[in-house]
Amino acid sequence: MESVARPFLFLCFALFLLSSPCRSDPDPLQDFCVANPQTSDVTVNGFPCKPTSSIVSDDFFSTALSKAGSTDNIFSSNVTAADVLSFPGLNTLGLSMNRVDIAPGGVNPPHTHPRATQLGLVLHGQVLVGIISTSNVFYSKILNAGESFVIPRGLVHFEYNMGKEAALEITAFNSQLPGVLIAPRTLFGSMPGIPSEVLAKTFQVDQQVVNLIKSKFGN
Ligand SMILES: *[C@@H]1O[C@H](CO)[C@@H](O)[C@H](O)[C@H]1NC(C)=O
Repeated sequence: MESVARPFLFLCFALFLLSSPCRSDPDPLQDFCVANPQTSDVTVNGFPCKPTSSIVSDDFFSTALSKAGSTDNIFSSNVTAADVLSFPGLNTLGLSMNRVDIAPGGVNPPHTHPRATQLGLVLHGQVLVGIISTSNVFYSKILNAGESFVIPRGLVHFEYNMGKEAALEITAFNSQLPGVLIAPRTLFGSMPGIPSEVLAKTFQVDQQVVNLIKSKFGN
């Protein structure tokens, strides 16, 4: 009996250890918990729930992704999020979705999602998707409508519209709020800004070059 139980327990423990880094948001403890951030100042890992008695059908539906975002900006792209902030019904359910509209020649610039793996589907257009691993290897592919891609959690990636038409992709995340760090904004557009001498040393250029780039990102 014991000789069977021991390897079994070891296997369970090994599976637990292997699975824990892959886990994203914690599992819910009830059917749903529609977010009601206004009702409480209490901070929890997520948002407090609306009382079940006031849940309505509309809590489970959203028009957040129904319209293209304006691509009239420096990157010629726009990310529209259906995450827990725009769609409170997602609270505690561990997933969310974005639409990414990219004009020809536009880019969703290099960025990472610290809390989620991403699964993307190109619906229109021709998109170059690039991923950089922690070993600094660049992986990329040009995707057409109907083709999909996966961005492992936390890796830097971008999407660039190679085509002549507007591109649209839908991305799903295993987090209700995947978070995003957009590399150029993080480095050159933080408030307050990172000292220019730090960035000059980092990028091996003069501070004027750093200041020029900062000026593009509101600093
Ligand atoms: C994205 O599109 C929305 C809706 O058109 C707009 O309000 C927002 O300013 C756009 N964001 C950027 C960065 O252009």
